[in-house]
Amino acid sequence: MSAESVFIEQMLPDDLPAVVRIERASYPDPWSSASFSREISAQPISHPIVARRDGMVVGFVVAWFVVDEVHIGNVAVAPDARRQGIGRLLMDTLESQAVAEGCTYSTLEVRESNQSARQLYGQMGYRVIGRRDRYYRHPEEDALVMVRTLSISGAGK
Ligand SMILES: CC(C)(COP(=O)(O)OP(=O)(O)OC[C@H]1O[C@@H](n2cnc3c(N)ncnc32)[C@H](O)[C@@H]1OP(=O)(O)O)[C@@H](O)C(=O)NCCC(=O)NCCS
Repeated sequence: MSAESVFIEQMLPDDLPAVVRIERASYPDPWSSASFSREISAQPISHPIVARRDGMVVGFVVAWFVVDEVHIGNVAVAPDARRQGIGRLLMDTLESQAVAEGCTYSTLEVRESNQSARQLYGQMGYRVIGRRDRYYRHPEEDALVMVRTLSISGAGK
């Protein structure tokens, strides 16, 4: 199955159980349901979106729009829906929305060992600009800080 049948929509309170299931399947140190709930309440600074296929949540992104910067706080795709273009679709959509809101660059942190995410971000044009020592727990690991300039012509270029 491809990402063509996937729709990107605002995250709603009813999405929380599915979002938390994906979160727990994706990270050793997952965010709680209350954390996602706070993000839904913190709009429009917080920008939580989901990818839906056949009515089911298959992935999400949470990002923060701060003046001219969008910071990606969390992105995950359900394990059985990975490698189908959904992560890229979520990121491209988020960046397009960020550009429409006046953001000119995007930042994120990623575990140094997270090759799939680093591959995704590298493919999109993110580059490493720094490192945060022992930023992550369970297991403890450095974060790489990545940045990408957003083009007015749209994300993913
Ligand atoms: C990272 C993640 C969101 C990618 O989502 P996805 O839907 O599988 O990604 P896509 O199918 O859109 O892949 C886009 C590109 O990312 C890269 N990529 C994704 N998964 C990869 C993997 N397992 N190995 C190598 N490259 C990978 C590839 O370049 C891919 O392009 P290609 O399929 O044309 O080669 C997903 O693996 C995930 O949820 N991981 C767990 C949570 C996580 O690590 N989030 C990021 C935290 S910073």
